[in-house]
Amino acid sequence: MEKIVVTGSCGFIGYNFIKSNSSNFKIIGIDSLNNAYDKKLKDLRLLSLNDEPNFTFKHLDLSNEIALDKESEIFENVSTVLHLGARAGVRQSFLDPKSYILDNTAATANLALNVKKYKIKKFIIASTSSIYGDTGVNYAEENKDELENPPSIYAATKSFGEVLARNILEDTNTTIQIPRFFTVYGPFGRPDMSILRFIHWISTNQEVIIYGDGEQKRSFTFISDIISGLNKLFSHDDSGIFNFGSNETWSLNQVINLIEKKLNKKAIIVNRERAMKDVDIVLPSLKLSKSLLNWEPTTRIEDGIDATVEWYKNYKDELKEIKFKYEYEK
Ligand code: UGA
Repeated sequence: MEKIVVTGSCGFIGYNFIKSNSSNFKIIGIDSLNNAYDKKLKDLRLLSLNDEPNFTFKHLDLSNEIALDKESEIFENVSTVLHLGARAGVRQSFLDPKSYILDNTAATANLALNVKKYKIKKFIIASTSSIYGDTGVNYAEENKDELENPPSIYAATKSFGEVLARNILEDTNTTIQIPRFFTVYGPFGRPDMSILRFIHWISTNQEVIIYGDGEQKRSFTFISDIISGLNKLFSHDDSGIFNFGSNETWSLNQVINLIEKKLNKKAIIVNRERAMKDVDIVLPSLKLSKSLLNWEPTTRIEDGIDATVEWYKNYKDELKEIKFKYEYEK
């Protein structure tokens, strides 16, 4: 069985990837279990991952070079490193730039150095639509593969991580693939992101905080479409940058309507000041993902929200313990 390393194994995407692939690979999951958002949710994911027979967990902070060096035998005979570990909040990045620099750039560089040292065949580095900023719609992968005035500290550090990895692995035979995700949602999602918060707040009759008037649009992408995109990368041999996003956009107000209908409850909406540098609309070009990977999103937003609400209901007791708001939002 092929051995792979997945970083951010206790994060939203890492968890879902491992759950659906643990019979295909021998997986070593790495996670620092940091407190970027409520750690209890990461613990809950880890508990569920520990049921998987081919999964081994390493509690490790990739930005700590010395700790990583001590564990570097992890990388022996590994065919692919899937790097999903990151600090991922756009708004929080302005408050805590140093953690973003460490976790999204230093950590990525440390990992890339091990990929080089162990001559690993493939390095997949998760990236984000956030690096495109407010540059209009139909963002094309090929026009934006360099660090170019990224619109937040989060975006700057993710973009620089891509650049560092490519430089470190220049002149090696490692294939580098960079999937850029567009506002992913679904079961086991992040409690700092809009959809899961809206579901939680409407379900529990709490105020729904909307930053702005709710007319900003996102290409909300269901987690299973992201996992199918990552699976395509595992069977594609060439380096490249690929957008994995929905081919439609929805405003926050539209999404709240769908959740209200599903829960049969009315949201108590509180509009607050728009978040710093928040983008109005995000819509990917899927040209390369379609033509080179034969990948397309297939989940209708109604179905994705239904599945997320059903999951939320099943985990209601556990989620009661999770903090959905940061101190500064109270
Ligand atoms: C999201 C993720 O947080 C990033 O990790 C990811 O890289 C990025 O998508 C991406 O697509 O690449 P963001 O677009 O900010 O970033 O997604 P949400 O947190 O779901 O926010 C979407 C919109 O809802 C933003 O305008 C935000 O200000 C708003 N929002 C969010 C609220 O109005 N209220 C909230 O409580 C949370």
